[in-house]
Amino acid sequence: MPTKRFIHIGTGGFGKYWARNVLPRLVEMGKVEPAAAVDIDPDQLRNAVEGYGISPGCCFTDAREAFDKVQADFAIIVVPPAYHEQMVDLALAHDMDILSEKPIADTMEACARIYHKVTRAKTKMAITMSHRFDQDKQTLQQLVRSGKLGRQNYVVCRFTHNCRAFGSWSEFRHRIADPLLIEGTVHHFDIFRALTGSNARKVYARTWNPPWGEYAGDSTGLVVMEMESGVHCLYEGAKANASTMNGWGEEYFRVECESGTAEMDRREIRILRGGAWERPAAENVPLLERETWANPWLAELFVDWLNGGPAPENTLQDNIHCAALLFAAIESAHAGKVVDVQRFLKRHLRAAAVQV
Ligand SMILES: NC(=O)c1ccc[n+]([C@@H]2O[C@H](COP(=O)([O-])OP(=O)(O)OC[C@H]3O[C@@H](n4cnc5c(N)ncnc54)[C@H](O)[C@@H]3O)[C@@H](O)[C@H]2O)c1
Repeated sequence: MPTKRFIHIGTGGFGKYWARNVLPRLVEMGKVEPAAAVDIDPDQLRNAVEGYGISPGCCFTDAREAFDKVQADFAIIVVPPAYHEQMVDLALAHDMDILSEKPIADTMEACARIYHKVTRAKTKMAITMSHRFDQDKQTLQQLVRSGKLGRQNYVVCRFTHNCRAFGSWSEFRHRIADPLLIEGTVHHFDIFRALTGSNARKVYARTWNPPWGEYAGDSTGLVVMEMESGVHCLYEGAKANASTMNGWGEEYFRVECESGTAEMDRREIRILRGGAWERPAAENVPLLERETWANPWLAELFVDWLNGGPAPENTLQDNIHCAALLFAAIESAHAGKVVDVQRFLKRHLRAAAVQV
């Protein structure tokens, strides 16, 4: 298979993990080679030089200059969501495929524009929804979609953190509107979609920031969803609690099914069953095994797709439904009303279609 050349934009923050963990593995496998690394903060470029061995001469502090000077097959976007669309535009102008961090962009309008631009250009684009593709979530998904526990009834998720101090959840998240939903819940919305095998029909969200949360936007929220399959979902998310009960990678999910309760708590999964007055009997479920999960797995699937392999599950065309649920939930939280997610998506796609 030909080695694919990449431009990596955003080598600090989470981009450091890409530079030092995700990409070196693919370079060693001979699947990719670096063409350029970009970060507006020159100190962060060290992660790319030390991580995957790019020469300092191929490091840039301006993305446009990197795209103009260097030839590559695909772009990897790991900058805050407000800059995603401009990076997508640069990649499209240089005929490059795109692997982007979530969410697609910071507004539904931008997500819908990206959807049309990329689809019309027949460019391949995938979004790294890392947590849905983690070991515990994939195991739970396989269990509840196998039919072993019968029909699904409803799903509950708890994601609670003590990141109340400014900067404890990277600085930009303390400054933007709706940080919980945009930067956190988007992953859990995608996991609800994966567990139920369905997109959302309706959403109602309440979000706020407690007085001790050092956030400009809402850090805490409760959300109710109805999926198109008829399964209902309930979400609790909080970034300014006094404890971290279920933080990143250790979320609580419970899928209530006809003949069993599937519970996942801090990476342990069990099935609960019992009668009216009995303490339920618990059956532990072993986690699935594979070599990699999350970003390293998704990055490999993406490169294999570029080389003619099957499309991964996290394509832009799939993820636009996750973006629709995210921004419909934000609209619900701001307006205090139930939002019809499919109508919301259609409205935005129609409006964007005439703009781009
Ligand atoms: N999948 C996950 O689990 C996960 C985890 C963390 C972050 N993310 C995503 O990664 C993206 C980046 O988040 P972060 O936490 O790394 O943010 P961050 O602010 O911590 O770091 C962003 C980096 O990008 C650089 N940068 C900012 N604007 C730039 C520009 N215009 N051109 C070039 N470089 C620029 C910054 O200097 C910094 O080094 C976001 O989309 C976020 O949602 C995903």
